[in-house]
Amino acid sequence: MTDLSRPILPGALPDKRQVAASFSRAAASYDSVAALQRAVGDALLARLPASMAPTRWLDLGSGTGHFSRALAARFEAAHGVAVDIAEGMLSHAREQGGAHHHVAGDAERLPLRDGAFDLVFSSLAVQWCDQFSSVLAEARRVLRPGGVLAFSSLCVGTLEELRASWQAVDGLVHVNRFRGFEDYQRLCADSGLTLLGLERLPHVLHYPDVRSLTHELKALGAHNLNPGRPSGLTGRARMQGLLQAYEQFRDDQGLPATYQVVYGVLRRGEEE
Ligand SMILES: C[S@@+](CC[C@H](N)C(=O)[O-])C[C@H]1O[C@@H](n2cnc3c(N)ncnc32)[C@H](O)[C@@H]1O
Repeated sequence: MTDLSRPILPGALPDKRQVAASFSRAAASYDSVAALQRAVGDALLARLPASMAPTRWLDLGSGTGHFSRALAARFEAAHGVAVDIAEGMLSHAREQGGAHHHVAGDAERLPLRDGAFDLVFSSLAVQWCDQFSSVLAEARRVLRPGGVLAFSSLCVGTLEELRASWQAVDGLVHVNRFRGFEDYQRLCADSGLTLLGLERLPHVLHYPDVRSLTHELKALGAHNLNPGRPSGLTGRARMQGLLQAYEQFRDDQGLPATYQVVYGVLRRGEEE
């Protein structure tokens, strides 16, 4: 049984303490199952402006620090700071190096001073933030004029096969909620930052069966954490129903799980 079996109510994103606790628990297993996260973070690195040579960078929602280490390797002379809401992730990252400082903090209220960074890099973290407008405002505040925010996130359509399969079983939503791409467009346009690029690209992973997918989501700490889910166990019949419903999506490579990935690159104006 995984928490993905628990239906959720419409509305809010998960409680931040639960997000932090879930990712802290996942710190040890995360890197072994993070294929999507690796591919997306690499694609985000490739979207940084070619001329980028930061003296100070921030890895926001740094997780196990894989991309802190990639940033440190790419910008050797620069000073790096990693921020994450999950203490368990930070202590795991600290042991492996990359950033010079590891700071516990919330992307919506950064414990960092104004104008401190040339680059804010954030891969697959801000989908957990209820107020993306606050994340953008905070990124703008901690960037120096001319600095760049590069983020990746997930939007509506992510895990659509799993959502639809549960829908067929009990008519309820069991998958984490995601903002629409249009919301990302609007919030970025209203952020006061200059938009250099914003796109949505599907990324499809394949699994031999549903349990492999749900176990992976749990190992990533990314299973359903939405408020309103009941705490009861899933009945065998409902689980069986889910497995059957998901089979309709099977293709040559197995059971697909689609992620709708958003990539955004924005710059703070030089004159501010
Ligand atoms: C899917 S992991 C991605 C980690 C890393 N960026 C990577 O690509 O491997 C998401 C991370 O975002 C962190 N996170 C979630 N909400 C956050 C918030 N409000 N502020 C800071 N970090 C947050 C989680 O604790 C987790 O470590």
